[in-house]
Amino acid sequence: MTDERLNRPGDPCVMVIFGAAGDLTKRKLIPALYNLVQSNLLPKEFAVVGVARAQMSTDDFRQKMSRDIHEFATSSVDAQLWDSFEKRLYYLSGEFQDPSTYEQLQELLATVDQECGTRGNYLYYLATAPNFFNDIMWQLGTAGLAREEGTWRRVIIEKPFGHDFDSARALNKNISAVLKESQIYRIDHYLGKETVQNILVFRFGNGLFEPVWNRRYIDHVQITVAESVGVEGRGGYYEGAGALRDMVQNHMFQLLALMAMEPPLSFEADAVRDEKSKLLRAIQPLSPEEVLTQTVRGQYGAGTVKGSLVPAYRTESRVAPDSGTETFVALKLMLDNWRWAGVPFYLRTGKALPSRVTEIAIQFKHVPFLLFRQTPVEQLTPNFLVLRIQPNEGISLQFGAKVPGPSVRMGAVQMDFEYADYFGTQPSTGYETLLYDCMIGDATLFQRADNVELGWSVVTPILDVWKALPPRSFPNYAAGTWGPKEAFDLLERDGRQWRRIDP
Ligand code: BG6
Repeated sequence: MTDERLNRPGDPCVMVIFGAAGDLTKRKLIPALYNLVQSNLLPKEFAVVGVARAQMSTDDFRQKMSRDIHEFATSSVDAQLWDSFEKRLYYLSGEFQDPSTYEQLQELLATVDQECGTRGNYLYYLATAPNFFNDIMWQLGTAGLAREEGTWRRVIIEKPFGHDFDSARALNKNISAVLKESQIYRIDHYLGKETVQNILVFRFGNGLFEPVWNRRYIDHVQITVAESVGVEGRGGYYEGAGALRDMVQNHMFQLLALMAMEPPLSFEADAVRDEKSKLLRAIQPLSPEEVLTQTVRGQYGAGTVKGSLVPAYRTESRVAPDSGTETFVALKLMLDNWRWAGVPFYLRTGKALPSRVTEIAIQFKHVPFLLFRQTPVEQLTPNFLVLRIQPNEGISLQFGAKVPGPSVRMGAVQMDFEYADYFGTQPSTGYETLLYDCMIGDATLFQRADNVELGWSVVTPILDVWKALPPRSFPNYAAGTWGPKEAFDLLERDGRQWRRIDP
């Protein structure tokens, strides 16, 4: 991250969105670009070229986006601002595997460069199904559209980046035949969240926390990414993915890495990504026996979430009636390095849980009980430091305090910081920073090839063991509960418990 950030708009460029007729474009990308226009961070010399199979003209595309923005904008839409933005939207319909699509794209880009002054800089956004990634990259390379000659050409690649270690490595290899690593921006939208970015500032910008951020003071860490929604019509994708691939290998490992990594030398992309890689490398690989005892899978059955009935996962559209896909995972990981040896990291994520909460909870070690033996205090309050990533973004510290009165009694109290109180809230899609960063060539918040492969190298042995086991008897938790019983047993066996999260 450089000082230039936020002091200037991104470089003149065309953003070419492959898969522009899909959900991501209307829900996130266009609203994010609009927010960038509003905050003067989008260059005046900018255009979008949507590419997709759907038959549409540029006019149709403009009209569709103008309708959709009213539904998905995160703030009110200024008619004048939108009008001038809308004029910079173009559309090309074509098959991603067909070379003629890229010939037409080349022509269209030349026209757009003329009309919008975009200077031949192209930001390709792969918002398609992952099975097209290889083809698109290959075709861009063959058409000469990835070549940088006094211009830049960058590619943002959406998730899922591979479905296991081998496929991620193969994808990296194929892409690197066309692009240099500095042109590749592997996105993880969790890194676009302010509270995720704050983890490093919180840890390394304060003298208070870093000295206790290690195995001497920390008992264990709990990372929870709970969603109250089910698969929301994405059964077709989710059936082949499951919670481990969908959330752990990418988003949760980002949270883990930022929470646990060593201080980077600077905020420069490679300095940060080097430390992340070191941390991921330190995760102790799970042996097949450990997969059985340290990982838990779940799938939701019918239940009630926030008063509404939620049907069982197996009854969702495009989900097999006897599906073995997990919608919940809990696991215990150990980090084999000097800072963290012996400190368990418990991760859990799931769909159709009682509430939507993402948090990192750090439990500090208990103090000796001796002093309290002769008092009515039966148990000391654990000290929890909780980084609330979403919603109610903030940080809280739980500690014990004396309950006023004649005898020594103890109660849990909280010190609380809420982002909204200090900084107000700025509605965003979470993609603004990521798109802007790509336009200025800052890859700090994107994953490098080794980061992705390391994530997969932890997760793939788990997938392999699960695959070799007889089918699990699913469903094993009701929608609206905190997952299967084994997830609670996982901590109880270690004499610990999940932090209570109120719905
Ligand atoms: C996506 C997953 O990457 O992240 C979804 O594919 C999940 O299944 C989503 O719902 C969660 O993102 P957020 O930002 O709502 O926490």
